[in-house]
Amino acid sequence: LSLAAEIHILTCNLPLSYIAALRTQAPNIVVHRATDAGELGEEARKTILAALVWGMPPHRLHLLPKLALVQGMGAGVDRLLTPGTVPEHVPIARISNELQGVAMTEYVLLHVLRQHRSLQAAFDRHQRREWGGPDSGYVGTRVIGVMGLGEIGRRVCRSAAAIGFQVRGLSRTQKAVEGVQCFDPGSFDRFLEGCQHLVCLLPLTPETGGILNSRTFDRLAMGAFLINAGRGAHLVEADLIPALDSGRLGGATLDVLVDEPPPAGHTFWSDSRILLTGHSAAASYLAAEDVAPQIAGNLGRVAAGLVPRDLVDRRKGY
Ligand code: GLV
Repeated sequence: LSLAAEIHILTCNLPLSYIAALRTQAPNIVVHRATDAGELGEEARKTILAALVWGMPPHRLHLLPKLALVQGMGAGVDRLLTPGTVPEHVPIARISNELQGVAMTEYVLLHVLRQHRSLQAAFDRHQRREWGGPDSGYVGTRVIGVMGLGEIGRRVCRSAAAIGFQVRGLSRTQKAVEGVQCFDPGSFDRFLEGCQHLVCLLPLTPETGGILNSRTFDRLAMGAFLINAGRGAHLVEADLIPALDSGRLGGATLDVLVDEPPPAGHTFWSDSRILLTGHSAAASYLAAEDVAPQIAGNLGRVAAGLVPRDLVDRRKGY
């Protein structure tokens, strides 16, 4: 693939570290920055081949006649799939990177183990100079339900099973993962029944929005813990505090919210049963250098008239 020719890309907000990493692979990229393609001059519009998007995509992408790729810079592409955002004929690709799975696994295990071993109570006892701690119970009796069995979800499941947890996985189409009891949406209630930890790693689609609601919580074990590292809109926010108050949920760790960051007065900030981790779960060490080869590869492919890799299926929504 020829990455020697000039390749014009449009981005709103791609950090400079990413541009620098991209240049090591594709030295002749020309970067245009705009939040609206209409802000660009006529000439620039005609040259742009790809848009690189983190967060909100540039407006009016239909003004770019040569646009051949919209490359999402994360695993989730929900915002790119809003109708009218990316012209129908333009392929959308996402980042699919082993390190995302590694980072997400670390995040989920950290919080599941923190919940299982009552880490907060240990901090509190230490403060009181109190020795000893409660028996947290054998890990093999604890059931984790993981929603989403893509590459990330499968890695999370395998790692949790390796520690000894009983692991269930839920996916849109029935999957088979060794050591994991797999469910499809038709058996959603059986998947939920008695889970002590519920982990959401789903893509946000019309089917999955609001899936973390009081009906879902009511099927979990009493005092279950919630971890949402999918998208904020998976959670019906109004259902969370009542579930915590009733004891149905014992705590919640939320990496994502509908409004990021939430306003200072948001109740979730001031509730000690909730931990907000600021959309950092898989960004922790997914460095520019790790994603640059994948993006450069896709730029080279579309420059050569080939189909990009890690394509999003618009009908499925991920
Ligand atoms: C992060 O939220 C991502 O989609 O990668």
